[in-house]
Amino acid sequence: MAAVPLCLEPRLEPRLASLLGAEDLLHTLVDALGSPLNVVLPDQIAENAERFHATYCRHRLSGQVFFAHKANRSSALVRRLAATDAAVDVASLGELQHALGAGFTPDRIMATGPKTPEFLWLAARTGVTINVDSDTELDDLAAVVRGHRLPRVQILLRLSAFEATSGVTVLTRTSRFGSPVGELDSLLDTVERHGDAVELTGIGYHLDTTSLDEKAVALEGCIRALDACRSRGLRPRAVDIGGGFGVNYLADGEQWERYTSALTNAVLGRRPPMTWRGHGYGLRNEAGTLRGSLGLYPAHRPVAAERYLDELLSRPAPSLGGRPLATLLLENLCDLFTEPGRALVDQCGLVLARVLEVRRTDAGEHLVRLGMKADDVSLEEHGVLMDPVVITREGAPAAVGGEPVGVYLAGSLCLEADLITRRMVLLPRLPRPGDLLAFANTAGYCMDFRSSRAQHQPVARAVAVWQEAGSWRWCLDEVYWPPMCPGGQP
Ligand SMILES: Cc1ncc(COP(=O)(O)O)c(C=O)c1O
Repeated sequence: MAAVPLCLEPRLEPRLASLLGAEDLLHTLVDALGSPLNVVLPDQIAENAERFHATYCRHRLSGQVFFAHKANRSSALVRRLAATDAAVDVASLGELQHALGAGFTPDRIMATGPKTPEFLWLAARTGVTINVDSDTELDDLAAVVRGHRLPRVQILLRLSAFEATSGVTVLTRTSRFGSPVGELDSLLDTVERHGDAVELTGIGYHLDTTSLDEKAVALEGCIRALDACRSRGLRPRAVDIGGGFGVNYLADGEQWERYTSALTNAVLGRRPPMTWRGHGYGLRNEAGTLRGSLGLYPAHRPVAAERYLDELLSRPAPSLGGRPLATLLLENLCDLFTEPGRALVDQCGLVLARVLEVRRTDAGEHLVRLGMKADDVSLEEHGVLMDPVVITREGAPAAVGGEPVGVYLAGSLCLEADLITRRMVLLPRLPRPGDLLAFANTAGYCMDFRSSRAQHQPVARAVAVWQEAGSWRWCLDEVYWPPMCPGGQP
């Protein structure tokens, strides 16, 4: 029996699938604006935010969905979001300026992450909510507020190091961010000391984990921490559960299972290599025994984004009578804040690159060199494995039936390590110079988080695209503004 090809086909919702079908437009854009090219779909981010809000409604919760801006630099995405009910989480001075300039008012902005004095000042001056990372940051903020005679600033406290109380061991990762919940008392002493400068309006966490168990423990810990605040006369009214809702990148779970087991076998030498020079993505073969762990994003995640939120809110809280976490938030009259990054830009963009050269290595492998650097689509860096989509040049023969072709994708830097993927990707046929490869669903972190000007090579231009009267329209990302009349042109 012929072996099943080890494809990893991207999951495409109708809007992104339709864009990939607009092949002439995509070629025209790259001809005009160069390779690589980032393409974003602002209407999709509005739809994604709506899905999060619908989940709040299903649990009868009020609150705000803050887009974690760090996931993508695009102006079009942020401006489109400003025209919805959603809010934005900014993690740098530049992101804060960008959000204000996109039309977000301070009541719809939260400043998170590590902060410079300038970032703290602009956040305090404009009156955005500040998610405080530590007691020293609280001291710095209070000094800024007093020094500049600013109005009291609303703050949230970011907590960490939660422990399960149910007797079941839940592994929790340590984080260099946030204050350990065990030190809440002394943190609240600092809040009280700075009562003239700050008002505590909420507490929360952000955990860099996919584990629902860890998140449920943290949310339960936050609900318990509300009581500690109230016993001192403080009045927090929101719990912020951060981001990390995830994205389901792949169309087919079986492909993912097949791929990861084949990779394991390849590392053990039980099948031909599937990666460049035997790279194991964290796995290694020690005298026939598999060691290490797979350092990959779980690319097939049926429970992701708003479904993940739904599951988290439905989880029981063992130390609080076993009632669902959403019910406990309601009983505490608490708003829910979320900070989805990756999940809010799911299906919101793709990166295009032109094929420059196709050749064979000494070992007989197909090597496809692209007009992009590895940092222009940091799928590898983020451990997201997905096959690109081939967009043939007009006149080129359409994909022929039969077996897909395995190729390695190389970047344009004069550097051995500049590989777009360290694994063999499967394409329906061998591409030719002039074809495009589309890296679909890369708006979350993979598009522009790492891009550089190494070797004086350009960073990708970005365009925004939208559908109007059945056809695709586009403009440069920086000149996009949301429709002035709904359904009209930007
Ligand atoms: C404080 C904070 N909030 C939200 C996010 C967004 O996480 P994600 O993109 O996984 O939703 C991050 C990501 O690093 C973060 O640091």
